[in-house]
Amino acid sequence: MEISKEHPDSVRGLFASIAGRYQTVNHVLSGGLDWYWRAVAVRLMRPWNPGLVLDVATGSGDLASAIGKHFQGCRVVGADFCRPMLEVARRRGLPELVEADGLKLPFPDGTFHAVTVAFGLRNMASWEGGLKEMARVLKPGGHLLVLDFSLPTLPVIRSLYRFYLHRILPIVAGIATGRMDAYEYLGGSIEKFPSGETMSSLIRNCGFTEATAKPLSLGTVSIYTATRA
Ligand SMILES: C[S@@+](CC[C@H](N)C(=O)[O-])C[C@H]1O[C@@H](n2cnc3c(N)ncnc32)[C@H](O)[C@@H]1O
Repeated sequence: MEISKEHPDSVRGLFASIAGRYQTVNHVLSGGLDWYWRAVAVRLMRPWNPGLVLDVATGSGDLASAIGKHFQGCRVVGADFCRPMLEVARRRGLPELVEADGLKLPFPDGTFHAVTVAFGLRNMASWEGGLKEMARVLKPGGHLLVLDFSLPTLPVIRSLYRFYLHRILPIVAGIATGRMDAYEYLGGSIEKFPSGETMSSLIRNCGFTEATAKPLSLGTVSIYTATRA
């Protein structure tokens, strides 16, 4: 089956097939920058001092774990629709994990102080649907943080990044995971995913205010924060 976000089974199957190697490949391909991106995300969350956080598309639980370690007494629930990814998170000691689709979360309205999603929204069949569902489970005034890939705005950097994304990454990651198609999908999904003001505006249209974008690492990654209206 061709991997496409419009076919959630293909996305679930993709992550199931790379779950065991996902974290290592991430650290290698990002040159360790993924730790830095999560550290910045946690730093941006500091003023919120959240008591109850939902990490949607938690995967192997890297962001959930960073949040849990940083905020004393904070309860972090991780949700993901791919069981093998959740098993990796469970093995590393994440206590609260729920197998659930981000488009249909099994939580009542207004449950969480903060909702986070790292490298997950891009893969959802509907970005609007995912954001609206996150707004629904947030308390009014609660906070959203989205961390995901973006395309650099500077033309020369954008060209170099695209070369890495489409020519180098699928080969290297394909050798490491045996799933070259997964990393071809990654590049395509980054091309389609909105960033900067376009993403901030999408977030605003889904029930949030004060949406802002923070580009990192030459704009290859962005963090969006917003408040539930
Ligand atoms: C690239 S991984 C990101 C994992 C983790 N958040 C991280 O930062 O490393 C994407 C994750 O999103 C999950 N995912 C994609 N679509 C989803 C959906 N509709 N509902 C729940 N999880 C989803 C996948 O199963 C996968 O674990």
